[in-house]
Amino acid sequence: MKIAIFEVEDWEKGAFEALSKAHDVVITHGHLTKENAHEYADREVVSTFIYSDLSRETIKELKELRLIATRSTGFDHIDTAYCVERGIRVANVPAYGDNTVAEHVFGLILAVSHRLVDAVERTRRGEFTEQGLMGFDLKDKTLGVIGTGAIGRYVIEIAKGFRMKVLAFDKYPNDIFASRMGFRYAPLDEVLSASDIITLHLPALPETHHFLSEREFDLMKKGVVVINTARGSLIDIQALLKAVSSGKVSAVGLDVLPEEPTIREEAELIRSIAQRRPLESLLADHILLRLRNVVITPHSAFYTREAVQRILDTTIENISAYMNAEPRNLVVGGS
Ligand code: NAI
Repeated sequence: MKIAIFEVEDWEKGAFEALSKAHDVVITHGHLTKENAHEYADREVVSTFIYSDLSRETIKELKELRLIATRSTGFDHIDTAYCVERGIRVANVPAYGDNTVAEHVFGLILAVSHRLVDAVERTRRGEFTEQGLMGFDLKDKTLGVIGTGAIGRYVIEIAKGFRMKVLAFDKYPNDIFASRMGFRYAPLDEVLSASDIITLHLPALPETHHFLSEREFDLMKKGVVVINTARGSLIDIQALLKAVSSGKVSAVGLDVLPEEPTIREEAELIRSIAQRRPLESLLADHILLRLRNVVITPHSAFYTREAVQRILDTTIENISAYMNAEPRNLVVGGS
């Protein structure tokens, strides 16, 4: 079987060795793009992370494609409607890092509450003084958790360890979990207006696009902290920038940005400018990246040794299962 695996780091290559022994496997550090897709026209299986292009235009070039094994939970980067049309299956990694992302959420929260970035920069300059670095306690603060799926629930468990109060919002509340953990679900507007820190754990869907926009920021407490490790599209970045500028939002912790792929790749940035694509959102990202009360990590919440190993293991199992005619973890093309 002909397989192409993209976005692979050197140390990860060994994990695909077993597949390479029995199949024709191309492993590359590069991304799948519109421009190079024709080179992979004979591949029956492709595996990518989230920065490859899996639009209709690109997939069209992959004439023999039968399976996309994405090395992520989310699959919003794949044109699944076109996959359905072509009968291409899509397998994902349903769970690999609920604890990993939840731990990162608290990394961001503590970075804000203990002013860790400023504090470390200061001692690196050789200044050993706490003046101007006063933070705040998490104990007794209210954490608003929006989306109580796998990651949101883990966040709540950790929050309880910090003795925080929790208010949650989800389309499908999990009342058993709520009574076990001792927190309450509330309508969205109440979560927004009563929380000291708000953290987002929703999937990127048309209905969750700009889930936090001007109306939602207006409802929040003055001085609220906003955390987003889910997807950049959940927040209207212009509205966030406005809320930060006015002081409504006192600090932000982000692992995801709306224009992330463009920010990552210089070539993408140049293409955006050349195509005169709207640059307001990109500009907003760049402004946020430089604000002192905004802590941004480069979509690295999932990136621990253990979580990446779980992703590799599940992906190889997904590809092998497909080859054995027992496909698993299908998000498109399952029964
Ligand atoms: P999940 O699918 O387990 O939970 C999502 C929750 O959102 C569910 O409880 C669902 O009922 C709720 N929901 C969906 N639409 C809703 C709506 N319109 N209104 C209210 N609630 C709604 O997802 P999981 O695994 O907890 O992941 C959450 C997010 O984290 C996803 O966006 C995922 O892409 C992102 N993620 C980010 C990573 C990173 O490295 N930064 C790594 C892994 C996931």
